[in-house]
Amino acid sequence: MNFEKTILITGGAGFIGSHVVRRFVTRYPGCRVVNADKLTYAGNLENLADIEKHDNYSFEKIDIVDKQAVTGLFKKYRFDGVIHLAAESHVDRSISAPDEFVMTNIIGTVNLLNAALNAWKDNFSNKLFYHISTDEVYGSLGDNGLFTEETAYDPKSPYSASKASSDHLVRAYSHTFGIPVVVSNCSNNYGPNQFPEKLIPLAINNIRNKKPVPVYGRGENVRDWLYVEDHAAAIDLIYHSGRRGETYNIGSNNEWKNIDLIRLLCRIMDRRMNREPGESEKLITFVKDRPGHDLRYAIDSSKLQNELGWKPIPDFGKGLEMTVDWYLTNSKWLENVISGEYEKYYDSMYSGR
Ligand code: NAD
Ligand code: TYD
Repeated sequence: MNFEKTILITGGAGFIGSHVVRRFVTRYPGCRVVNADKLTYAGNLENLADIEKHDNYSFEKIDIVDKQAVTGLFKKYRFDGVIHLAAESHVDRSISAPDEFVMTNIIGTVNLLNAALNAWKDNFSNKLFYHISTDEVYGSLGDNGLFTEETAYDPKSPYSASKASSDHLVRAYSHTFGIPVVVSNCSNNYGPNQFPEKLIPLAINNIRNKKPVPVYGRGENVRDWLYVEDHAAAIDLIYHSGRRGETYNIGSNNEWKNIDLIRLLCRIMDRRMNREPGESEKLITFVKDRPGHDLRYAIDSSKLQNELGWKPIPDFGKGLEMTVDWYLTNSKWLENVISGEYEKYYDSMYSGR
């Protein structure tokens, strides 16, 4: 088949990546989408079972740290664009084992940049390297203020430091070699298909199984929660209409203290599981805080809203209910991902807390 364009999406078997792949495959049938993913513990091709037979979709099992494999991928396909999501993404893992974060998030990004530069250097027109990043690169806020695109980088965890490093490299390749890039920095995502090591799916799963729900410290830390489909829609808009060389912050003005969020989730779970009001809340267990735990993240996304007309869904309660319903309906998906490796990891994380 002849396609108008070919796009590489890295990390497409992961949480956010699978929503982005699905969106591009179904909305743009003239565009071939190549999903390159190493399938780490966080990568799950089950996430894409509904679209894997589409003509414009293909999967390549590739470790982006493997320079030769990345070079080979760019020889096999003539990519017009790259949307780079592949990463090690969990802060707690970056504290217990930072090396993998340096390899994938920094070296992996450089390998992709080098391959794109080499493939595109004679003609950059209509090419784009879109790097997906996090608001955590800006560090931690006090009680007031928002991260803007101009906020100075101040990463505090090995995860955010590795993402900050990759952001700098993407911008440096644009400045030095002229490669067209765009970067977006997004707040915490939630929704279907998130691996149950992150707060919301972990809490849903534990409440479902009447297991303790671990809340770090006093649960005072604040995060700005964005529904994953809203992130995928923002990525679509920025990929197609974002100004080259620019950065866009993505967030939804939806700040929650962890403890308030968990209480809301408990109330939803009581209703869904036909429990007495207050029953699930009894599972909340305060545990030892994360070392260097960032207090607050909050995003000013007015640039994206004003320039590109992006809007997130307005009702967090509804987004959370949809998420709970997805996990309860897809309990098989949950059980499949909570297998050996994750259980071992889970024990090493929580047994001493
Ligand atoms: P995830 O951990 O769910 O998925 C990451 C994917 O990358 C997995 O499919 C994994 O197999 C793949 N991968 C990991 N190492 C690889 C390697 N060496 N080579 C090839 N593939 C590899 O992550 P996510 O939550 O979907 O995050 C995706 C991107 O979005 C990341 O870059 C992350 O920094 C960024 N981000 C995430 C959030 C969030 O709340 N989850 C918020 C802002 C930005
Ligand atoms: P997480 O989902 O790991 O995202 P991030 O650290 O990237 O923001 O955590 C969200 C918040 O929830 C963060 O403040 C840490 C806290 N947290 C808990 O209190 N208990 C948990 O079991 C987890 C995984 C996170």
